[in-house]
Amino acid sequence: MLILGIESSCDETAVSVARDGREILSNCVLSQIDMHTIYGGVVPEIASRKHIEAIAALANQALEEAGVSRKELDAIAVTYAPGLIGALLVGVNFAKAAALALDIPIVPVHHIRGHVAANYIAFPELEPPFVCLSVSGGNTLILDIRDYTDTRVMGSTRDDAAGECFDKVARVLGMPYPGGKALDDMSMGGNPNTYPLPRSKVSGAELDMSFSGLKTAALNIIHNASQKGEELKLPDLCAGFVAAVRDTLVPRTMEALRQTGYGKLAIAGGVAANSHIRAAFQEECEKVGAKLYMPPLKLCGDNGAMIACQGYYEYLAGNIAGQELNAVASLPADRGSWKNDG
Ligand code: KG4
Repeated sequence: MLILGIESSCDETAVSVARDGREILSNCVLSQIDMHTIYGGVVPEIASRKHIEAIAALANQALEEAGVSRKELDAIAVTYAPGLIGALLVGVNFAKAAALALDIPIVPVHHIRGHVAANYIAFPELEPPFVCLSVSGGNTLILDIRDYTDTRVMGSTRDDAAGECFDKVARVLGMPYPGGKALDDMSMGGNPNTYPLPRSKVSGAELDMSFSGLKTAALNIIHNASQKGEELKLPDLCAGFVAAVRDTLVPRTMEALRQTGYGKLAIAGGVAANSHIRAAFQEECEKVGAKLYMPPLKLCGDNGAMIACQGYYEYLAGNIAGQELNAVASLPADRGSWKNDG
């Protein structure tokens, strides 16, 4: 079955062609980062306009690279939630028009389920159930992947997403948006104990997380140093910040894994590219004899292949929409099946 996967929930326009949910024939991603970086973050209106400009040409490119004609497509999968509403609407409306013209079904895909599915592409042997930490600029979730289309949220951030904190701290340090990668690079060789940074706990919810206190503490260190005219030890501050994020994410995810007894852990989302977090999961999983799945960096960020892949499993589960499909800005990952919400 050939599926065209479309992703436009934030600042990447992405289109891919995939066969039977696991084989990627093309994966075209057009990043808008250069446009947003001058503002220090994503400007929703600009994101929508850039998606409109790019999406048709990118879809043609994805078909061409895959060596597939429009008529050979069996379905169109599209991210319909959650994300920037204007940006999502571009992908959803393009998918609706293309599905109408080609007389094929539209398969709505929840963005987080798409990130999880990046693991199915990278690891053909991986099947649910497993635990997945999905951690990006917009979400930080510990998920029980009971089945391809059955997700339970075990823990989540109560305030900022981990990636959002990376980006805000990096911005104040003068790094270009999105700063997660630059902050990760800067942390190499730094002493994580020079600047004490908090590890927050949410009382009564051992798997939930909070990052806003960490962000404020890091920003206070930066501002205090600048007010006193002191030079910051940048690698040390970055190493301390990454260590605090790691110490928040890793033990909770390992506890979730222990509670489920699955013995299989996957990670997903842009922050899953972080070298310290990857190394910590490697070490912890080795200790408890769990199998660890970490997709390659190019599949960690937003892409159309993950949507085409998850779309295949949504299609098999009967989660198919008609022209009534609409974009949804905010939708919990455990309510991500279209037929349950539509
Ligand atoms: O999944 P993604 O591409 O987009 C969504 O937010 O959905 O994730 C982007 C996030 C940004 O916050 C970016 O700074 C962060 O992933 N990121 C990283 C690294 N690479 C990307 N954060 C920490 N370390 C990295 N190496």
